[in-house]
Parts: sequence; structure tokens; C-alpha cells
Amino acid sequence: MMTRNQAWYVVLLVALLMTVPEGVVAAEQCGVCHPESRVAFAESIHALEQVTCTSCHGGDAATQDVERAHRGSFRSLRDRLATPAICAACHSDLKQMSAYNLPVDQYAVYQTSQHGMAVAGGDPRAAVCIDCHGSHEIHAADDPRSSVAARNLPGTCAVCHSDEELMGHYGLDSGVVADYEAGIHGQSLLVAGNLAAPNCTSCHGVHGATPPGVGDIDKVCGACHVQTRRAFLDGAHYQGMTEAGIPECESCHSNHAIQRRDVDSIDTLCADCHGDGSDQVLLGNKIHTLIEAAAAEVDKAENLALEGQRAALDVEDHLGRIEEARTYLTEALPLAHAVSLEPVEQVTRRARSIGEEVQHEIYAKLDRTEAHIGLVVFWFYVFMTLVILFMLKRRMSSGGEVT
Ligand code: HEC
Ligand code: HEC
Ligand code: HEC
Ligand code: HEC
Ligand code: HEC
Ligand code: HEC
Ligand code: HEC
Ligand code: HEC
Ligand code: HEC
Repeated sequence: MMTRNQAWYVVLLVALLMTVPEGVVAAEQCGVCHPESRVAFAESIHALEQVTCTSCHGGDAATQDVERAHRGSFRSLRDRLATPAICAACHSDLKQMSAYNLPVDQYAVYQTSQHGMAVAGGDPRAAVCIDCHGSHEIHAADDPRSSVAARNLPGTCAVCHSDEELMGHYGLDSGVVADYEAGIHGQSLLVAGNLAAPNCTSCHGVHGATPPGVGDIDKVCGACHVQTRRAFLDGAHYQGMTEAGIPECESCHSNHAIQRRDVDSIDTLCADCHGDGSDQVLLGNKIHTLIEAAAAEVDKAENLALEGQRAALDVEDHLGRIEEARTYLTEALPLAHAVSLEPVEQVTRRARSIGEEVQHEIYAKLDRTEAHIGLVVFWFYVFMTLVILFMLKRRMSSGGEVT
């Protein structure tokens, strides 16, 4: 028999259950039988925003019965090709997304990409939303746990793009991720943690996944290397290479395995396309010599300034000017991309003359100090001679008294 109190408890419990918002109950009922999905999902940005199991899967969340739970609108989402449209139902809806200030163009852009076009053609091997974002454990793009956070992204693309068999099917290079990781950009982002270095999407677009066209590479690289691109556009190579169908920056630097090029390689590099002993190789050599010579003068000036510092000279001002000369030198490398002598000559001349001036001034100071030291030594010598003479004289006169 139930006491009156117990009966009240039951009524209260039922009332309480009826006031719990629908979404919470829904999430809980599916999760009872699917604990792994529930746990993965609980950490996601969706769980925070009242997206529930049924938002994507449909079904009846209010029951503990297997049959009823998976009936009606239920979908397993095992069909990869159907998933982008499920995500787009919310993410292309301006009304739902504007509160978060999120763009709503992911699906539209995705459909123009190689991935989206392949999927639209019925090919399930190309990337869909969940390959890059996950399905349950989705985080904000800038959350370090996210599979699309800058430093995790190469690994996310590598799942498919380092798969030799899969890429072979499309005639695509399966070394792109390894090349990227070995190159300057990859090392900078992945090893040094420099978030200014590009990841895959900086050059291919976030949802675009399209290789830049031959004539667009300067724009892609120029988003970051502004001065270099400007000089390149001013020079003969821009038009010459676009007309010849040569992929701009990439033809000298490659696309993924970007290495720091050595100034010394300029002449052999020019010879690759223009032939040994050509005017262009000569020009390359001259540019090379200008930069090297200016750098040598600045180095000499710096060594001398440091030597002066050790000799207790005030070289603050000189070190500042050497810094300025170095700035001119860093401008020289980007300007060399105009493949003409004049712009490089202008900045290297400035760097060089600062180097030479600083050297002269420090030499002069050092000479003056040496002169000072010489004078001190001279007077010390005179003084000591006088002292000795004086003492000898005293000893001689006192010795006279004893004997
Ligand atoms: C009473 C336990 C129970 C509840 C409640 C339940 N499920 Fe399931 N679910 C199962 C079992 C058992 C299977 C495995 C069936 C199978 O493998 O054929 C399954 C399978 C699935 C699958 C995989 C289907 C497939 O074909 O691969 C999905 C997705 C799923 N459930 C989602 C949900 C969602 C969403 C809810 C809530 C609306 C839910 N489940 C509620 C027990 C449950
Ligand atoms: C943002 C959409 C989305 C939400 C929300 C979501 N799922 Fe899924 N779920 C998917 C997709 C897509 C798949 C199929 C691809 C896969 O297996 O990753 C899937 C697969 C599954 C599967 C079968 C494969 C597996 O991982 O075992 C189960 C079970 C499942 N979901 C349960 C749930 C439960 C329970 C919830 C709520 C806690 C939930 N899902 C919320 C999108 C979602
Ligand atoms: C029921 C609506 C709904 C569905 C369906 C849905 N999302 Fe979301 N999604 C949201 C909301 C709301 C947010 C939270 C936005 C925020 O806080 O920035 C969000 C956030 C995200 C974010 C993080 C955005 C950021 O801030 O960087 C990603 C990525 C994402 N969803 C991907 C997906 C994917 C992939 C799918 C399909 C498997 C999907 N979503 C399905 C509503 C939905
Ligand atoms: C090839 C991988 C890839 C695919 C496929 C992909 N995304 Fe993304 N997505 C990304 C990356 C990378 C970012 C992060 C961009 C950043 O750092 O700002 C992102 C960001 C987002 C964001 C955050 C807001 C934004 O636009 O920057 C949302 C929402 C999103 N994706 C939804 C989707 C949806 C929906 C789909 C499917 C239609 C999808 N994504 C397909 C890689 C992908
Ligand atoms: C699920 C596997 C998968 C993932 C993950 C994936 N891709 Fe792809 N990607 C493909 C396939 C398959 C193709 C070839 C599609 C075709 O040509 O029909 C492709 C094509 C491309 C292309 C076009 C290449 C060309 O010249 O045609 C680019 C660029 C690309 N992917 C970049 C990326 C980037 C960047 C990422 C990570 C953010 C990524 N992909 C993640 C499978 C994937
Ligand atoms: C600094 C810019 C840049 C970065 C970063 C970058 N790519 Fe590329 N990628 C390019 C260029 C340029 C091309 C070649 C375009 C051409 O020659 O038509 C290319 C081509 C590709 C191709 C086509 C390869 C083929 O065989 O035709 C794929 C796939 C690709 N990249 C994927 C990636 C992935 C994955 C990452 C990240 C690990 C990445 N890219 C990072 C610039 C970049
Ligand atoms: C998102 C910005 C970004 C884009 C896009 C980008 N880069 Fe870079 N690049 C950097 C950063 C940052 C560094 C410096 C890395 C370091 O030293 O840590 C760098 C370094 C380099 C270097 C070596 C510079 C040196 O000091 O010797 C070369 C060469 C280079 N990039 C060429 C390219 C080319 C070619 C492209 C286009 C295919 C490109 N970059 C696209 C940001 C970018
Ligand atoms: C004709 C070959 C060639 C082309 C085309 C070319 N570069 Fe270079 N680049 C070089 C050489 C050689 C160096 C080594 C530095 C030097 O001696 O000028 C260099 C150096 C660089 C550096 C490092 C210089 C610095 O500022 O520290 C960057 C960044 C760079 N290039 C980016 C680009 C970009 C972006 C493009 C396309 C707009 C491009 N390059 C086109 C040959 C080329
Ligand atoms: C990847 C191939 C390639 C490389 C490497 C290359 N060039 Fe060129 N260069 C071209 C093309 C293509 C043209 C335009 C057609 C022509 O005039 O031959 C051109 C034109 C020029 C021109 C203007 C026209 C002329 O014939 O005088 C100069 C100057 C020049 N290059 C200098 C250089 C220098 C200096 C180097 C080495 C730093 C170099 N190039 C490396 C492909 C290249």
C-alpha cells in the first residue's frame, strides 16, 4: 500500500518530468543506449547550443523502446552523400546563424569545390563536411581541439591526401602533405607554432578545395608576401610567365615543399629557364653581387661596433643605424623579384653607405682612444722615470752619510 506521502512524491515526480524541456529529455533517451555517441557529443559546440540527437538523426527521443526510437523520421546517416544537406539545413539558414555571426556560405562554396562536385556526381570518396569536422565531436574552428584548427588541419587532409591508392585513382600527387610538412611553411606552423604561416586552406580556400589557377598563384602567395608580389608584378616575369603558362611563384619555389632559397642559387636558377651564359644569368649575378656586397659591409660595421662596445665606446647610435641598414637589406630580396637592377641597387646602396659610414666613425673613435692610451702610457713612463731618479738621488745622498 502507498502512504499518502509516497503518493505525493509520485505526483511531484511526474509533474517535474513534464516541466523538463523536450530537448534535454530527447538527448538523454538516445544517449542511454548510445553512451559513446553521448559522451563524444557532450563536449561539442552543438551540445552547448541545444542541437540534439534528433536535429540530425530524427527518430523518437522520448522512448526507451528500440523499435519506436528508430521509427518515422529516423535516419542513420550512414549514407555519406546525404550528410552535407543535413548540416546545411541549419548552416545555410541566415535566421539561425546570424545570432552567432557565422557565415552561411559553407555549403554553397563547398558545392563549387572539387570535393563538392565529386560528391554531387555520386562519388563517396571525396570529402564531406564530417570528414573535416567530425560528426559528434565538432568544435569551433579556433578551438585547439578542433580537427580543422590550423595546426591539426594537415593531419585531417592527410587521411585522404596521403593515401597513395586513393589519390592514384584521381591522378593526384599523394606527397602534398609530406612536402608541406617538410617545407618552410609547414615547419613554421607545425614545429615553431607560428600561426601567421599558411595552412592548407590559406591557399586552397576554406571550403573551396581548388588549386589556384596558374595566373592566380601570385595573388594567393601575395596575400602574405605583399612586397614580393608588388615587385613581381612590376617586373618582366609577371607578364612573361603568365603568357608562357608558367605557374608564377611556384616555378621557382614549388608549391608545398617551399624552401628558403639561397642568394647563391640565383645564377643557376636563372640558367634553368634562360640558358647558361644568357643576359638574364648575367643580370642574376649582378643582383646577387649587389646584395652580397652590401650585406658584407653591414656585417663588418656590426662587428666593429661590437668591438667598440667591448672597448667601452658608446655605440648605441651606431647599432641603431646598423639596424636601419638591415631593414634596407630585407627590402632587397623582395625587390629582386622585379628582375631588374635598379630597385635593388637603390636599397643596397643605402645599406652599403650606412655600413661604410659607421665603420669610418668607429675607426675614428677607436683611433682617438688609442691615442689617449698612448698619451697615458707616455706620461706614466715619464713620471716613473722621475720617481726612480729622485729615489736614487736620495739613496746616494743618505749612503754618503753612513759610509
Ligand atoms: C533502447 C535503446 C536505444 C534507444 C533509446 C535508441 N537506440 Fe539507437 N540503436 C540501439 C541499438 C540496439 C542499435 C543497433 C541496431 C542495429 O545495429 O541494427 C541502434 C542503432 C542506432 C544507429 C545506427 C543505425 C545504423 O543503421 O547504423 C543510430 C544512428 C541510432 N541508433 C541513433 C539513435 C537515436 C538518434 C536515438 C534517439 C532518438 C536512439 N538511437 C535511441 C538502441 C537504442
Ligand atoms: C550534427 C549532427 C549529428 C548529431 C547532433 C548527432 N549525430 Fe549521430 N551521427 C551523425 C552522423 C553524420 C553519423 C554518421 C557518420 C559517422 O558515423 O560518423 C552519425 C552516426 C551515429 C551513430 C552510428 C555510428 C556510431 O558512431 O556508433 C550513432 C549510434 C549515433 N550517431 C548516435 C547519436 C546520438 C545518441 C546523438 C546525440 C547524443 C547523436 N548521434 C547526435 C550526426 C549527428
Ligand atoms: C540544428 C541545427 C544544426 C545542425 C543540423 C548542424 N549544426 Fe553546426 N552549429 C549549429 C549551431 C547553432 C552552432 C553554434 C554556432 C556558434 O556557437 O558559433 C553550430 C556550430 C558549428 C560549428 C562551429 C562553428 C564555429 O564557431 O567555428 C561547426 C564546424 C559546425 N557547426 C559544423 C556542423 C556540421 C559539420 C554539421 C553536419 C554534420 C552541423 N554543424 C549540423 C547548428 C547546427
Ligand atoms: C575539406 C575540409 C572541409 C570540409 C569538407 C568542410 N569544411 Fe567546414 N571548415 C573547414 C575548415 C578548415 C574550417 C576552418 C576555417 C578557419 O580556420 O577559419 C571550416 C570552418 C567551418 C565553419 C565555421 C565558420 C566558417 O565558415 O569559417 C562551419 C560552420 C563549417 N566549416 C561548416 C561546414 C559545413 C556545413 C560543411 C559541409 C557543407 C563543411 N564545413 C565542409 C574545413 C572543411
Ligand atoms: C575523405 C577524403 C578527403 C579529405 C579528408 C580531403 N580530401 Fe581533398 N580530395 C579528395 C578526393 C577524393 C579528391 C579528388 C576529387 C576529384 O577530383 O574528383 C580531392 C580533391 C582535392 C583538391 C583538388 C585537386 C585537383 O587538382 O583536382 C584539393 C585542392 C583538395 N582536395 C584539398 C583538400 C584539403 C586542403 C583538405 C583538408 C582541408 C582535403 N582536401 C581533405 C578527398 C579528400
Ligand atoms: C602556400 C600555398 C599552399 C599551401 C599552404 C598548400 N597548397 Fe596545395 N597547392 C598549392 C598550389 C600553388 C598548387 C598547384 C596549383 C597548380 O600548379 O595548378 C597546389 C596543389 C595541390 C593539390 C593538387 C595536387 C596535384 O597532384 O595536382 C592538392 C591535392 C593540394 N594542393 C592539397 C594541399 C594540402 C592537403 C595542403 C595542406 C597540407 C596544401 N595543399 C597546402 C598551394 C598550396
Ligand atoms: C598565410 C600567409 C602566407 C601565404 C599565403 C604564403 N606564405 Fe610564404 N611565408 C609565410 C610566413 C609567415 C613565412 C615565414 C616562415 C618562418 O620563417 O617562420 C613564409 C616564408 C616563405 C618563404 C621563405 C622566406 C625566407 O625567409 O627565406 C618563401 C620562399 C615563401 N614563404 C614563399 C611563398 C610562396 C611561393 C607562396 C605561395 C605559393 C607563399 N609563400 C604563401 C606566410 C605565407
Ligand atoms: C625567377 C624565380 C623566382 C620567382 C618567379 C619568384 N621567386 Fe621568390 N625568390 C627567388 C630567389 C632566387 C630568392 C632568394 C632571395 C634572393 O636572392 O632574392 C627568392 C626569395 C623569396 C622570398 C624570401 C625573401 C625574403 O623576403 O626574405 C620570398 C618570401 C619569395 N621569394 C616569395 C615569392 C613570391 C610570393 C613569388 C611570386 C609572386 C616569387 N617569390 C616568385 C626566386 C623567385
Ligand atoms: C621558371 C622559368 C624562369 C626562371 C627560373 C627565370 N625566368 Fe626570367 N623569364 C621567364 C619567362 C617565361 C620570361 C618571358 C619570356 C622571355 O622573355 O623569355 C622571362 C623573362 C625575363 C626577363 C625579361 C625579358 C628578357 O628576356 O630580358 C628578365 C630580365 C628575366 N626573365 C630575368 C631572369 C632572372 C634574373 C632570373 C633568375 C633570377 C630568371 N629570369 C629566372 C622564365 C624564367
